[in-house]
Formats: sequence, C-alpha cells, structure tokens
Amino acid sequence: MQHSSFRVLVLGSAAGGGLPQWNCGCRNCADARAGRIAPQTQSSLAVSVDGTDWALLNASPDIRHQLASAPALHPRQLRHSPVRSVVLTNGDLDHIAGLLVLREKQPFALYSTPETRAVIEANAVFAALDRAHVAISDVGLDRHFDILPGLSAELFAVPGKVPLFLEQGEPQTDLEGGQTVGVAIERGGRRMVYVPGCARMTPALAKRLAGADLVFFDGTLFADDEMVRAGTGAKTGRRMGHMPMSGPDGSMVAFDGLEVGRKVYIHINNTNPVWRDGPERRAIAYLGWEVAKDGLEIAL
Ligand code: MLT
Ligand code: MN
Ligand code: ZN
Repeated sequence: MQHSSFRVLVLGSAAGGGLPQWNCGCRNCADARAGRIAPQTQSSLAVSVDGTDWALLNASPDIRHQLASAPALHPRQLRHSPVRSVVLTNGDLDHIAGLLVLREKQPFALYSTPETRAVIEANAVFAALDRAHVAISDVGLDRHFDILPGLSAELFAVPGKVPLFLEQGEPQTDLEGGQTVGVAIERGGRRMVYVPGCARMTPALAKRLAGADLVFFDGTLFADDEMVRAGTGAKTGRRMGHMPMSGPDGSMVAFDGLEVGRKVYIHINNTNPVWRDGPERRAIAYLGWEVAKDGLEIAL
C-alpha cells in the first residue's frame, strides 16, 4: 500500500443552495431532480491523517446527510463521532448552518478567525452549541495550528466580503482580512489549499497557491453574469464576492503558471454549465481543472 500523508474527502461540492436548489427550475436543477446529472450537496471537505479522526472544513446545511453518507464519519460507540474539529472559512450560511446540526453535546473544537467567531456569537441561535463541549478558538491569520493531532493548518486572507445576511447597502466585495479565509494544510511535505470563496486573485494568494499538490478553488460561476443571463438572479459573481472561472480576471487565467499538482473546482453554483458535458466543461478540463463531486476522496 502506498504511504499517504493525509486524505481529503469532498462532503459537498455545490455552492449555497446545492444542486438542485429547492426553488430553482434551471436546466441543471431539473436534470438533477430527474437523475440525468448527480445531485450535489453544499460546500464542505473532511480531512484525516489516519482515517479514524477527522476535521471538517466548513459545516454546511447538508451536514446531516453528508455525515450519514460517509462510513468513515459514523459513530463507533454508543455516543461518539470521528469529527474532532471544524474549521470555518467565513460566516456565510452555507458554511456555518451545519453547526446547528452538531449540537448534541458532542465535544469538538471549532476554529475560526475572530471575525467569523463574532458572526456566530452575535447570533443567539448558536448558543445551541453547548460551550461546555464545543471549544471555540480564535485563529490568527498566517499561523500554524493543529486541526488534528499531527495535522497542521493555516488560515490566510482571501479577498471577499461580509456574509450576505450582514450586508448593509453596497458592501466592499474584495476586503482582505479575517472575514474570508482560505485553509492550507500541510503534512509530510504535501500541501492542500482550500479556497471556496474568492473575489479576485492577488499576488499574496498566487504565492499561497503556487506549487500546492492539491487546490480546491471557488468554482461558483463559469461566467460573471451567468445568473443574470439565466434569469435566476440579479447579481454578478463579483457582486457576490466570487471571481468567475472564465474571462480575463477569471480563475482559469489566474492559475496560469502556478504549477498546482491537482486543481479541483468546488462551491459550484447550480447554474454553472460545468455540471454537465459541453464546451465550458471541456474548456476547464483542457486547462487541467476537475469538477468536485460529493464523495470524491483524494489521498496525498
Ligand atoms: C456565497 O457564497 O456567496 C453565499 O453562500 C451566498 C449566500 O449566503 O446565500
Ligand atoms: Mn457560499
Ligand atoms: Zn438551478
């Protein structure tokens, strides 16, 4: 058996709303309901060194189904969970709502920036997470901390905005600070970077990504105006704090020359044409991009 350093399991590959989204009748959502393409749950990863203890990167509203679907994440005793910790990349609903499902007096560690912790603590409903069991730790940017014994992580700033439910007027969509972060995980010389939301590429972010063995990156929209054109929304990707895949400022161009081992799009909106075969899917594949799928597991 080949020795691996750590493994990554895609719990959810879709953006907020999932595929299909409850109130959407777009082509992809209709195809997912009819079984013509596989339904996908909302953005989250699980990582482990030994397959026994796991850390979750984000807690999606679909977490109950995601944990039930992954045998490695099932309880092994009367009251038990292999989930030892949860790391949050921002305060968006699709990344924090799952915490409410994890409320049954089960100990785990919760790691986030002070900005994201403040979002959680300002919402009284999260008192459902009993602090006697759930230790919430502030994590500073660019500092190593252990998310599991022997597995080190770092949070770093990624251009983004405050959560949608906290927007007042027109928000700055590419703030760089603790409100939107990426996660870098490193062990035994192998490095994975998870960036489910990113407004634009910066030199600092490019440096973070360069040479990584595996990157999961914001694949919300293929084209910036895709939701406007499809009639499913009035906002561009940029207004939502998500750079598109295509175009001169898109992620396909931005990754040129970064020498990433394996590039996987995640947090993919249900309107995105890459969910099905076609020219957009072929365009990203030509540049070496994969589309995440629920249940995809990668050993590094
Ligand atoms: C996003 O990724 O932009 C958010 O999840 C949107 C939302 O909260 O619905
Ligand atoms: Mn989202
Ligand atoms: Zn749809």
